[in-house]
Amino acid sequence: MSTHTGHPTATVPGAGWDAAVGAMVNPCDRRGGTLRLVSSADVDSLDPARTYYVWVWLLQRMLNRTLMAYPTDPGPAGLVPVPDLAESPGQASDGARTWTYRLRENLRFDDGSPITSDDVRYAVQRIFAQDVLPGGPTYLVPLLDDPARPYPGPYRSSAPLESVETPDDRTIVFRLRGPFADFDHLMAQPCVSPVPRHADTGARYGEDPRCSGPYRIEEHRPGAYLHLERNPYWDRATDPVRPALPDRVELTIGVGLDDLDAQLIDGVFDINLEGRGLQHAAQQRVTADEVLRTHTDNPRTSFLHFVSLQPHIPPFDNVHVRRAVHYAADRLLLQEARGGPVTGGDLTPALFPPRLPAHQGLDRYPAGPDLRGDLDRAREELAAAGLPDGFDAVIGTQRGKFRLVADAVVESVARVGIRLTVKELDVASYFSLGAGSPETIRKHNLGMIVTDWGADFPTEYGFLAPLVDGRQIKRNGGNWNIAELDAPEINELIDRSLHTTDPDERTRLWRVVERLVMEHAVILPLVHDKTLSFRNPWVTNVYVQPAFGLYDIQAMGLDPTA
Ligand code: ARG
Repeated sequence: MSTHTGHPTATVPGAGWDAAVGAMVNPCDRRGGTLRLVSSADVDSLDPARTYYVWVWLLQRMLNRTLMAYPTDPGPAGLVPVPDLAESPGQASDGARTWTYRLRENLRFDDGSPITSDDVRYAVQRIFAQDVLPGGPTYLVPLLDDPARPYPGPYRSSAPLESVETPDDRTIVFRLRGPFADFDHLMAQPCVSPVPRHADTGARYGEDPRCSGPYRIEEHRPGAYLHLERNPYWDRATDPVRPALPDRVELTIGVGLDDLDAQLIDGVFDINLEGRGLQHAAQQRVTADEVLRTHTDNPRTSFLHFVSLQPHIPPFDNVHVRRAVHYAADRLLLQEARGGPVTGGDLTPALFPPRLPAHQGLDRYPAGPDLRGDLDRAREELAAAGLPDGFDAVIGTQRGKFRLVADAVVESVARVGIRLTVKELDVASYFSLGAGSPETIRKHNLGMIVTDWGADFPTEYGFLAPLVDGRQIKRNGGNWNIAELDAPEINELIDRSLHTTDPDERTRLWRVVERLVMEHAVILPLVHDKTLSFRNPWVTNVYVQPAFGLYDIQAMGLDPTA
């Protein structure tokens, strides 16, 4: 089965171009074999509380279960969490402030010990120990903490977290400080995978985590490989999400990008786990080859690429200046800078990814019939700002594709007299201490910032609130509301959406928020990101999980006859 190598297998026609987007390729329930994965980089962490890479979250689906989980479903249903360890979705009461879950029976960790509600509560407690376990999402902290007596996590206090109750081994009750209609989505994040107290080793837990999913870690050699084997205590009957088809999973880590693509296409590996897509050389090769094309998908990753305009850096404090930039942007040039329509993405004049219900045909700053910008209106806005001859400013970016975007912005706005210089910030710390730091932006006087964003869960709140909610500005870094937008009207609509359980009403509220944000002209949207991904034809159950925008590795199997 895992003997597929060499060109001949790669010439078997596949299911078709983009066939794994919105549908399942090679549906099959045959078990057995070894799934051979590859990645250029190592996992960020195998501690479920400390991972944020989206591809590691997909890997986590093999290792760990959560109260709720996104189903194995290529359609819109794939966006809605279903009960996983829980018997049914969270039962909301008290205006979406209290959420109650009941665990299924007969759940066990890979050491044979039973999974109880306390193990889920303990996982939640660990999230509060950001000093020991940084790296993962922290949405639960403000929802569950008491600001008068902040909970320091389980390593600095033996007192329990009082907002989470476990009246018995199978029941868990969350009492939130405020309403949170999307709570089931938070219960699908890896950071709430159960952790048994007896196995917790704090900062070192990722070296030997207990697993609740169909696989457990056989061996991880950091930077080299990660091997998974079946978890003998996982019970198929309790798991409605995971087909768990392969007997083994072998991830090869640290293969150089072009080499990785070549070996993938030659069948040395089945699938690229990292999901960053084919690099330039392989893109040319697969799109030019009639057969390889049929093994290729072009999914949206649900990342939005955009330029943040900074109202706290003059002259961007004037909305007419910000609008001038919107009108002056050459949309086609910017799309080209991202890599063009196939590997760059779909041009968008608005913010919400098309998969979200609130997505609307909003185009507040039309770019002209040729999409090259409306320079007359840009000049009108500059005149309204009292800057008819333009001005000097600085745009912040990082090297690589972000630099190409910055250069395209420079070229765009130069046409109306705006003279930009480019400041490159460090890549590794870009989102924490560069673009993500209000202080850095002020220090370098960055009026514009090139950035991107993907939601941590697929709802309107998950996508837009971190970018535009004034209460989510993070002064000390890791800030995603880069423009520091803090508009009472927007904040209030966000609050209303959080206790609105009617989905249509929520959609309506978020459409208003999106329109208001575009009025402020602090986010210049460029493209909804797309990648080009290669699937080998003997891999079964291949589909792009819509909540993540990448292949759902846990669904895959192997067809020895293909
Ligand atoms: N929100 C983060 C970003 O935009 C990560 C998004 C993807 N990762 C994830 N686990 N959802 O960089």
